[in-house]
Formats: sequence, C-alpha cells, structure tokens
Amino acid sequence: MKKLYGIGTGPGDKELLTLKAVKEIELASVIFAPNNKGKNMALDTVEDFIHGKKIVLLDFSMGKVGKEDYINAAEIIYNEIPEEGTGAYLTIGDSMIYSTFIYIMKELEKKNIQVEIIPGIPSFVAGAAKSKTPLILKGESFLLCDEFNEEVLDKIDSICVLKTLENKKEILNNLENKDYVYRYMKRVTLENEEILVDRDQILKDRDYISFIFGRRERND
Ligand SMILES: C[S@@+](CC[C@H](N)C(=O)[O-])C[C@H]1O[C@@H](n2cnc3c(N)ncnc32)[C@H](O)[C@@H]1O
Repeated sequence: MKKLYGIGTGPGDKELLTLKAVKEIELASVIFAPNNKGKNMALDTVEDFIHGKKIVLLDFSMGKVGKEDYINAAEIIYNEIPEEGTGAYLTIGDSMIYSTFIYIMKELEKKNIQVEIIPGIPSFVAGAAKSKTPLILKGESFLLCDEFNEEVLDKIDSICVLKTLENKKEILNNLENKDYVYRYMKRVTLENEEILVDRDQILKDRDYISFIFGRRERND
C-alpha cells in the first residue's frame, strides 16, 4: 500500500528536525511541499536529507484556497507515490497547526493510501524557548490564534498570534490596553532571526514568518 508521511519540519533550524523526520525523508521516494513562488521554507530546512530525489511543489491558487485545490493536491500526491512506496509532505512547524496538509489529509482519507504524521516543533514553542519566556505557567491559560479577538484577552494570560501581517496595529493596541507585555518574534531559529519589542519597529516589519507573543504582566 502507498503511504504518505505528513512531516513537521520545525521552525527552520535543521538541528531541530526530529530523527524520525530525517529517517522518513531519506527513505521516501518523493517529497511534496506547497509551492511558494518556486520555493518553500520547509524544503530549505531539510535540503541536506533529500539527496537528489524527486520534489513535487504543489500549486495552490492565489487568494482563497478551496476544496478543489485540496482535491487536486491529493490526486497528484496519490499518483506520484509508487505502489508500496512512501512520500513525505513537508510543512513548517508542526503539520497539525494552520497547515494545508490538514485539508489534503482529509481528501487522502477517501483514497487507498495510508497517512502518518510526524510532529515538528511549532514556531511559537521555538519562540518561547528563544526568548526564554514561558508560554504558560501552572493555573494559567494560553491561546494560539491567527484571527485576533480582543475579548479573549480578559480570559487568558498568554497569547501567540500567528500570521499577523494584516492587523498588527490593532493587536498591539489591544495588548497594551490590557497590560500585556509583547514581543514580535521573526524568523525564529533562522539566520536572520529578530526579536522586536519596539512598537514602531514591529509595525514597520512586513515579514510573514513572524508572530506576536503577548503575556500578561506579572508582579511575582
Ligand atoms: C501557515 S502558519 C504555519 C504554522 C506552523 N505549522 C507551526 O506549527 O508553527 C504560518 C505562520 O507560522 C509562523 N511561523 C512559522 N515559522 C516561523 C518562524 N521560524 N518564526 C516566526 N514565525 C513563524 C508565522 O506566524 C507564519 O505566519
């Protein structure tokens, strides 16, 4: 039977790949990744382990990606993996967090193919480690989101907002109003990593590979 591994490649530093990810990438007959103008960050992370094997970059339509795109991607993946062979679908961070792989997996469930997920270190976990800031302490609540809603700030203690390109100003205003301390974590573990705390610098930045990490001020 054909098999596809959904592989989380972590935040970008290849030393943060799991042994299992490396093993299955090396064993796979074909590697899949979303096509970002001919490039892909997850692919860059694993480049040392591909050893010249076939790479299929999957195109998703510009703007809103829909069910049709996932059906097409699942079809391509199914056809590219040889009988009794394996493929590896690469995602940044972890495959089960804001990833196209989740929707493709749903379409693959309708086909005669086995799917297994190999977890990766998510961006916000790497960011907490890098800034030596706890994500959550005993008794606290933490929220991960990509669509910000200021009302939740009263109910939680710690928040990571991914994909912040469009509404950084609103997020920072709300965090300030609710006495949260924030950091803008950009390209965590990559060569051009930056941690910004200055409001104006954060607002000026346009890098998609970034997130905002906010924590409620504590006096203890
Ligand atoms: C489509 S989501 C993918 C999330 C990913 N699956 C994860 O587990 O972190 C893309 C967002 O992840 C975040 N991201 C991924 N890698 C990052 C990194 N190395 N540094 C900062 N943010 C990162 C950014 O917020 C980016 O907009």
